[in-house]
Amino acid sequence: MRQTALPVARCFVTRELPGDALERLRAEHDVETWGEARPPHRDELLTAAAEAEGLLSLLTDPIDADLLAQLPDLRAISNYAVGTDNVDLDAATRRGIPVGHTPEVLTDATADLAVALMLAIARRLSEGEAVVREGRWGAWRPDFLLGRDLHRATMGIVGGGRIGQAVARRVEGFDCRVMVAGRDRGELERVLAEADFVSLHTPLTDQTRGLISEPELRAMKPTAYLVNTARGPIVETAALERALREGWIAGAALDVTDPEPLPGDHPLLDAPNLLVVPHVGSATHATREAMADIAVDNLCAALAGERMPHCANPEVYERDG
Ligand code: GLV
Ligand code: GLV
Repeated sequence: MRQTALPVARCFVTRELPGDALERLRAEHDVETWGEARPPHRDELLTAAAEAEGLLSLLTDPIDADLLAQLPDLRAISNYAVGTDNVDLDAATRRGIPVGHTPEVLTDATADLAVALMLAIARRLSEGEAVVREGRWGAWRPDFLLGRDLHRATMGIVGGGRIGQAVARRVEGFDCRVMVAGRDRGELERVLAEADFVSLHTPLTDQTRGLISEPELRAMKPTAYLVNTARGPIVETAALERALREGWIAGAALDVTDPEPLPGDHPLLDAPNLLVVPHVGSATHATREAMADIAVDNLCAALAGERMPHCANPEVYERDG
């Protein structure tokens, strides 16, 4: 086998990642890593990545056209997420820069969390736990903390991609009736009208931003729950707050919010029947390590002049030159 030493490329990684994938990147390339627990500010990112040829970014790093224009040497972006809404894909494509992402490895963890949120909101788990911890656990009562059933519910899945399908497979085990809405407006309207749970599994795009706002929330059943493990801005926050306060829906369970992070004093948090967890859909040891492996594979492939195994803008490979 012929061994060709690959040219070493300058890489900037915007955070340490779980597992040992970054060691592989460091073995092949000249890698600088943002060392803090918070994301770099824009100017910090620009300074640190000024000469980077490869950038490994997180969903907390906005990579827009203006930023790209200030990174002249950049030839590969690898985003540590399946979603790429933080990256201006068109601008990257125009520059001929492939953008990698991490699909598949996080499908099951995210689907697991969606089901956990459904059960937690419908069976009022965080309310129950608060009762116990606050010493308010009185004698057993027939009418205490009554919720709603997941089993045999009608499950409305918005977005029939990998994660939506994985949720469907799971809730079939709960004998749910599954309805899936793709891009067709009529499908969405049927889901909103009939589902006991509306679970969002679309990427955030111009078409899905604000997809669930006042008319859609009003179209849901007052006994139905909204579950969002996709991206916060798919739901209009102010409309959701009103929906909860005014009882248009039974409750909402969110892994993602708009804004994100949601400040502790945000008015949404005062709304009733709301469960929020801090964007942890893919947060298992195994999943985050697998995401790191794919992110490094994507970056190394592109820097070696090969096709990224998981590219979010594959049209970049169809361009001339
Ligand atoms: C997480 O939200 C991801 O897109 O991977
Ligand atoms: C993401 O992996 C999806 O297609 O749902």
